[in-house]
Amino acid sequence: MDNASLSRKPPQASELASDEIPEAVRDHPYPEAGASQSKKKGLIWKLLGLAALAFGVSIWLHLNFNFFPATSQAEQSQKNPAAASSPSGSAASPTTKSKPATPDNLLGHLPYPEAPAADLVNVTSDGSIKLRKAAAAKYQEMANAAAYSGIYFAPISGFRSVEDQQHVFFDVKAERRQNASKRAEVSAPPGYSEHHTGYAIDIGDGSAPETNLSQSFDSTQAFKWLEANAPAFSFEMSFPKNNRQGVSYEPWHWRFVGDRQSLETFYKAHSMKK
Ligand code: DAL
Ligand code: ZN
Repeated sequence: MDNASLSRKPPQASELASDEIPEAVRDHPYPEAGASQSKKKGLIWKLLGLAALAFGVSIWLHLNFNFFPATSQAEQSQKNPAAASSPSGSAASPTTKSKPATPDNLLGHLPYPEAPAADLVNVTSDGSIKLRKAAAAKYQEMANAAAYSGIYFAPISGFRSVEDQQHVFFDVKAERRQNASKRAEVSAPPGYSEHHTGYAIDIGDGSAPETNLSQSFDSTQAFKWLEANAPAFSFEMSFPKNNRQGVSYEPWHWRFVGDRQSLETFYKAHSMKK
C-alpha cells in the first residue's frame, strides 16, 4: 500500500456513478418517488391483510355452516356412478355422513308391502279386481267422469299378492324364455310390484281391447283422457317413457297418490331427489 493510497480520501457519493452506490446511501434525486414507493408497499400489505381475513372468514363459514359445499350434485354423481344409477338417485356416497339409507331395489324395481286384505274392495262386480278403499273410490269417480265423456275404461289388473306376482314374473319368464333382466323390463319380481300396494291399476280402453297392456294404448281415447284428467283424481302414470327405474314404458299402469299413505308408499320408496 503506497502513501498516496493511504492518504486517499474515500470518494464522495456524488463522485460515483449512481448504480455503484448502495441504494441505502444513494442520494435520491426525487424524494416524492420514495414516498410513493413506500405508499405502494403499505397498500400491498393492506391487501394481503384483507385477503388473509377473507380466507379466515370463509374457512370459518365452511366449518360452521357448510357454506361452500365441496361438490355439486352433478359432480357428485359423476364421481359416484353407483349413486347416479340408483333408482332413487340418492344413494349415499361413502363420504357423505348423515344421509338416510335408501331402499334396496331389484332389477330397477322397489320393494312394496302387500295391502292388508281388510282394506281391499272390489272394483269390478265379479270381485276379480280389487284396490284399497281410497283408491277404489277415486278410480270409480274417475271412470264415471270418463264415461260421461263417452270413454269407457276397462280395468285389467288391480291388487296382486306376492304369490300372484310369482306367477307373473317367473312362470311367464319361463314361457317366454326370458332372462331375469329382460323380464324385469315389463314385470316386477315378486315383492317388488306396485300392484302389491292396492294403489295401482292397469287400465284398458273398452273400445280398443287390442291395445290392452300394449304401448299402443297411448293412442287411445282412454289414454288421452287419462293424461289430461287423471291428476284431478290423484292418479299418475308410474312408468312414463324413460323413467328413472328403467322399467319399460307402461301407459296403462296408473297409481293412486291421493292420501298420505299412498303418497308415502311411493315417494318414500323412491326417496325422490331425481
Ligand atoms: N308391470 C309392472 C312393472 C309390475 O309388474 O308391477
Ligand atoms: Zn300394472
